[in-house]
Amino acid sequence: MKILTVLGARPQFIKAAPVSRVLREKYTELIIHTGQHYDSNMSDIFFEELNIPKPDYYLGVGSGNHGKQTGEMLAKIEEIILKEKPDYLMVYGDTNSTLAGALAAAKLHVPVIHIEAGLRSFNKKMPEEINRIMTDHVSEYLFCPTDTAVENLRNENITRNVYNIGDVMYDAVLYNRELAADKSNILETHGLTKNGYHLITIHRAENTDDVQNMKNILEAFSKIDEVKVWPIHPRTKNKLSSYGIRLDDIPNLKVIEPVGYLDMLTLEANAKKIITDSGGVQKEAYFMEVPCVTVREQTEWVETLEEDANILVGTDVNKILSAVQKNVNPSYKEVFGDGKAAHKIVELIENR
Ligand code: UD1
Ligand code: UDP
Repeated sequence: MKILTVLGARPQFIKAAPVSRVLREKYTELIIHTGQHYDSNMSDIFFEELNIPKPDYYLGVGSGNHGKQTGEMLAKIEEIILKEKPDYLMVYGDTNSTLAGALAAAKLHVPVIHIEAGLRSFNKKMPEEINRIMTDHVSEYLFCPTDTAVENLRNENITRNVYNIGDVMYDAVLYNRELAADKSNILETHGLTKNGYHLITIHRAENTDDVQNMKNILEAFSKIDEVKVWPIHPRTKNKLSSYGIRLDDIPNLKVIEPVGYLDMLTLEANAKKIITDSGGVQKEAYFMEVPCVTVREQTEWVETLEEDANILVGTDVNKILSAVQKNVNPSYKEVFGDGKAAHKIVELIENR
């Protein structure tokens, strides 16, 4: 069996690591890296740290408007599918790389395996929502991380080959958590103490591409006294600079370059609170029982909202502040599986 995997963005490298490891015990996997993320701290670092095999094809598509970026990927992936004739094409999540891979394969009648299927925010203004819906509707195998995701698919009449196998990101956290504790010096490097800082990540287009939303978020940050550490996504850095907004005036804020996965797990595990708009980071906060404040109006990860483990605040300054001040003690419930999602995916493909 030959599987062609399409990856392109940071969270996809992290999701692919546990699946590739299990898949390659028995089968042939070829990796296409679209080049959607290309800075070494957004791409190479994850391949190295997580021992993901080097991509067999690097498309070098880079940044661009949605149509151009997705279109270039589509054309190039199509050529590779025609040449390699894979049995399956595997995609993860909801980026433009996901959609391009799924469309290219479906049109050539190569069955698509979608990992992290069925997620919905019900906000079609998010590019990710379009990508997910389209991908799910052309996929042959839909591996969902939660019951909610299965239910979302059922509501769109997708019921065939739908499986809740748990979340591959949970596999990744369990596999790397101790390694991170052993290897990462990130707290020392930045003079941080355990439970002595808040961790920030912001990169969603709905926040970064709206100057008023960014101003609100930064106003809230400037009113939070505690130390804050912010590994800044290149999109956010570029947008702030185009708005002429500087971060130097925000007290006790350490803005750092994006970090590798082991450093990120360490920053998350030891944070007092995590303030984010990232999908993956919301889940990791929950896995690690660190209270999370999500700077969005909706979340796909509704399970994390139980007991205020994760609080949705949008970009309202007062809501952000009161959620950060709220005393909560999250405890992980097994709603994201048992950390064996990768094995279950491979077994299910094998048994079909
Ligand atoms: C993409 C995904 C988003 C995912 C995120 C993970 C889409 C539509 N969006 O958003 O769902 O949550 O990845 O991080 O697929 N840039 C660099 N260097 C890089 C990569 C990006 O400088 O290595 C900058 C460029 O200015 C680029 C911008 O970031 O224009 C946005 O990159 P892009 O990949 O288009 O979208 P993300 O915001 O990263
Ligand atoms: N991440 C990382 N370094 C960083 C920021 C995030 O390794 O500086 C990891 C994080 O731990 C999670 C994933 O990247 O596993 C989340 O990716 P991102 O927030 O870019 O995208 P999303 O999950 O929102 O699609």
